[in-house]
Amino acid sequence: NGQCGNSRGALIVLEGLDRSGKTSQSSRLLPYLEGLGFPVELWRFPDRNTCVGEMISSYLANKSQLDDQTIHLLFSANRWEKRDCGHYKDKNRLAERSLMETKLRSGTTLIVDRYSYSGVAFSSAKGLDIEWCKAPEMGLLAPDLVLYLDIPPEKAAERGGYGSERYEQLEFQKKVAECYKILQDATWKTVDACLPMEDVERQIRESVLDCVTTCQKGRTLSKLWL
Ligand code: TYD
Repeated sequence: NGQCGNSRGALIVLEGLDRSGKTSQSSRLLPYLEGLGFPVELWRFPDRNTCVGEMISSYLANKSQLDDQTIHLLFSANRWEKRDCGHYKDKNRLAERSLMETKLRSGTTLIVDRYSYSGVAFSSAKGLDIEWCKAPEMGLLAPDLVLYLDIPPEKAAERGGYGSERYEQLEFQKKVAECYKILQDATWKTVDACLPMEDVERQIRESVLDCVTTCQKGRTLSKLWL
């Protein structure tokens, strides 16, 4: 268990509709992996703590209006700024590796609540061309594992109701679910999010341990959609 030698960490992404349980599951996963001795961090997108993130947050709360293309590019920019962070300026020269990549290569596993798949699914659900939506995501790090918490949109809507944010509406979430389906690839593991929380958690733990082990053994870190 834990980190051995100079093995790398895993990039693990949780995706799903609003109210699918991603946030609860990712915050349960963190102490589990920590308990096993793995260096691990929990990230989320949008990261509302940056300047770009504040613009996104205001848009989501319906406090500002932006056209579909602009908000799409802001969500993407929010991932790029976390990939390549200003702290990594090394004597006026940007370090060759991004913040995200540096973390992974130094052995830290990243659990990421939403990533480029949300970016593409939510924007293409509005009618934007899917290839256009994917373009600004190309070259970001590809996840080693995408856990898709699968829930019928109607069920998600029943769960404690949606909040007041822009996208939390049943008809829209149905379209998002369709778009997610198109994006599935070999790194996806679909988990039935209607199962009791403990069962979902067990399945996630199994897949994650498997993935972390494979990455320790040297699975290649690749780039998204190139
Ligand atoms: P999130 O902060 O996960 O929502 P909450 O914690 O309130 O459930 O995400 C906010 C919304 O932004 C969510 O409806 C999905 C959407 N979204 C996009 O449209 N594009 C993106 O790239 C991302 C990361 C999220």
